[in-house]
Amino acid sequence: MPKRSNRVLVIGATGQIGSELTLALRKHHGKDNVVAGWYIDKPTKALKEGPFEHLDVRSRSHVAETIEKYDIDTVYQLAALLSATGEKDPGGAWRVNVEGLHNVLEIAREHKGIKVFWPSSMAVYGEGVPAVNTPQVAPLLPTTMYGVTKVAGELLCDYYHRHYGLDVRCLRYPGIVSSEALPGGGTTDYAVEIFYDAIKKERYTCFLSKDSTLPMMYMPDCIKASMDIMAAPAASVKTRTGYNLAGMSFSPAELVKEIQRIIPTFECDYKPDFRQKIADSWPKSLDDREARRDWGWKPSYDLASMTQDMVTRLRARLAP
Ligand code: SER
Repeated sequence: MPKRSNRVLVIGATGQIGSELTLALRKHHGKDNVVAGWYIDKPTKALKEGPFEHLDVRSRSHVAETIEKYDIDTVYQLAALLSATGEKDPGGAWRVNVEGLHNVLEIAREHKGIKVFWPSSMAVYGEGVPAVNTPQVAPLLPTTMYGVTKVAGELLCDYYHRHYGLDVRCLRYPGIVSSEALPGGGTTDYAVEIFYDAIKKERYTCFLSKDSTLPMMYMPDCIKASMDIMAAPAASVKTRTGYNLAGMSFSPAELVKEIQRIIPTFECDYKPDFRQKIADSWPKSLDDREARRDWGWKPSYDLASMTQDMVTRLRARLAP
């Protein structure tokens, strides 16, 4: 019998990552085989070309019904409150990020054979680690609620793998830069907003200080990593908490310089707000050797190629 294609559910399909990952997954598995679960932002025309469902990850029964309705065998659980929002609504961050994940893991345990992807973050790190080339295995003592939820989630994933044999796979994403959907409520959001303002106004006021270096990644690399780890043979996925994932590291000042190579009249000033403290608690760069060794991770974009691609895409889209 021909092998049935994966039936995938993306929860959080209209978010920054979900909106592009869902389309990439549809290209790979066929558009009818990937269900877009959305909650706040309505699906775009492109997302409506395949199945879509209004879905609250906090409702275990609704997630279970959707999984049964579409005979889902792979779930990408991307719904989350990010770091800045998490500081304003710590209870909400816990309910979506941890309880939402727990719902998905419980359903996957009950329906044997469901594979789960869940994004962790560099925000798992906090005090007591080297900021440069932060190692995979190190104390996880975050000082943000977002980080607390990511550590708790990683431990849940590892627990479900050890105790129930669940095939759950996680990546510690750095900040993600993308040209399609805007991020919402994160500390690395400046690195997306800056491109819109550079193109529309040639001016930007950055909410982080000019030398706040953070690990970052361009969306095509993020999509590739998220699909590659799910395609890797189970035996090669040795870490079931979260793999460090690195693309590039840069500060706002370095990004500004790179944009100015293409838009020389662009100017940026700096007014750090409460998000500075969050950025200061995170690594500047990550050691991702384990991901490279275990399942062949290798990023394609650096700061220059990402900047060029972002400006080209946004200019084409935002042109009057
Ligand atoms: N992009 C996230 C944030 O800034 C970090 O994983 O909250």
